[in-house]
Amino acid sequence: MKISQRYAAPLLLGLVSTLLSTHAIAMGGMGGGCMMGCTTTPTVIDPPRGAAFQDPVTMPNISTISGIVEVNMEAKVAPININGVTANLMTYNGTYPAPTIKVKKGDLLKVHFKNSLPYTGLNMMGDARDLTNLHTHGLHVSPEGNSDNTMLSLMSGELFDYEYDLSLHPGGNLNFYHPHRHGNTAEQMWGGMAGALEVADETPALAAYETHIMMLKDISLDGAAPAAHTMDDFMSGKEGNVMMVNGKVNPVLNMKPGQVQRWKIVNASNARFYKLSLGSHNLQVIGSDGGLLNKPYAQSSILLSPGERVDVMVKASTTKGYYKLLSNPYDRGMSMMSGGGSQQITLLTVNVTGTAVTNSIPGTINASAVRLAVPAGTPTRQITLSMGMMGGMEAYINGIAFSETNAYTAHSSVNTYEIWEVFNQSMMDHPFHQHVNPAQVISISGGDSAYKSLYTTSPAWKDTVIVPKGGSVKLLVPIKDYTGMTMFHCHILEHEDIGMMGLWDIR
Ligand code: C2O
Ligand code: CU
Ligand code: CU
Repeated sequence: MKISQRYAAPLLLGLVSTLLSTHAIAMGGMGGGCMMGCTTTPTVIDPPRGAAFQDPVTMPNISTISGIVEVNMEAKVAPININGVTANLMTYNGTYPAPTIKVKKGDLLKVHFKNSLPYTGLNMMGDARDLTNLHTHGLHVSPEGNSDNTMLSLMSGELFDYEYDLSLHPGGNLNFYHPHRHGNTAEQMWGGMAGALEVADETPALAAYETHIMMLKDISLDGAAPAAHTMDDFMSGKEGNVMMVNGKVNPVLNMKPGQVQRWKIVNASNARFYKLSLGSHNLQVIGSDGGLLNKPYAQSSILLSPGERVDVMVKASTTKGYYKLLSNPYDRGMSMMSGGGSQQITLLTVNVTGTAVTNSIPGTINASAVRLAVPAGTPTRQITLSMGMMGGMEAYINGIAFSETNAYTAHSSVNTYEIWEVFNQSMMDHPFHQHVNPAQVISISGGDSAYKSLYTTSPAWKDTVIVPKGGSVKLLVPIKDYTGMTMFHCHILEHEDIGMMGLWDIR
């Protein structure tokens, strides 16, 4: 039975990870007798309005040649003000969020990377904590050599010159960069290493709108440092108790009455899901992970799991006042352990103020965006996600926990199509992410109905898709342009580190 499994698992985990007492308290706190299916009153987290909203800073481009964007990037520990507390985060260039890299289709992006993370011993996975590398999540670029090569591992003090040829990247989307050293990814991203990577769109209809980037991330601090991971965190996915937009708690974003703004939102959290809404305002989705949609899709709320991006247009009310951008309760399957499933969080406040304007949302966004028909004879690959049940701190793809010496490997031929059927055999949702080639969603079984309807009817390109607990997802994956060894994994980064990752060998 589903119900008994659901309750048995956290208990077993608790026993073997010596966290029984925590779980016992959490369960007691649920108000005894409230079993699955009951509606718990959400915990309302409504911090006072904070500072004025700010976009992340822009990464300086040191190139003077048009068509080349060249940046210096240093991974290092630096003091960052988190909601009034100065904490030593893991950063790129000493800022959180990391600076936004801005490029356009066809550019050559050069990153002079320096690893200045200190060597501070081994983590729970047995990996040296300084080891890192760079991943450009969402870019359709080569996964080899000094491009988006996530097989690399750079030690403290090492320099590396990355180069990304964006001539085949379709453009018009928000991507993000973060570390991808297996075993260290979760701790480093939790510690602050994540930045936006914006590929400009060439859609004149969108040029005139006030546009912002929003990076959603949570963190918990332990004194002046990011809270350490526990075994339980690796199984559940680590959620924090400070929720930030661009590093600020509940910042205030001004809009004029009737104004339309465009927001490019990325979930840069390790494990927290956000179900976004803005009062009675519609969120008009105009783009997804991989680019713009044909037209706006009106949503009353949008579910965004770790690694996903959404490009939305919002038309402010004509009534002045404060409106809360909320993250609404959503049970990703771990609410027993983290409480995350029952929280309602104020992420940002829109202040509708000033002189009214008469903006409108365009009816057409990218007329050439279409849903692909599945080509006849397309082969199907089955990928099953599962979790260790007995506290072994392992997660699997097709029964194999990823390691440098053993991984489920998908062998694909370049310039073909595949259908990937991804099954979730566990009791929590997993955001499934593949590198290099975005996909279209054919179908989703289980999970949030608005999410399913948006991504199975619109011409959305997705590189990260929620595979609902006990459910499945079917993707049409065009394998285009690039050969090489890359990967796919759960974007709850703790799950990636404990093995829910496979290799993708494209020839
Ligand atoms: Cu954003 Cu392989 O990851
Ligand atoms: Cu990625
Ligand atoms: Cu997962």
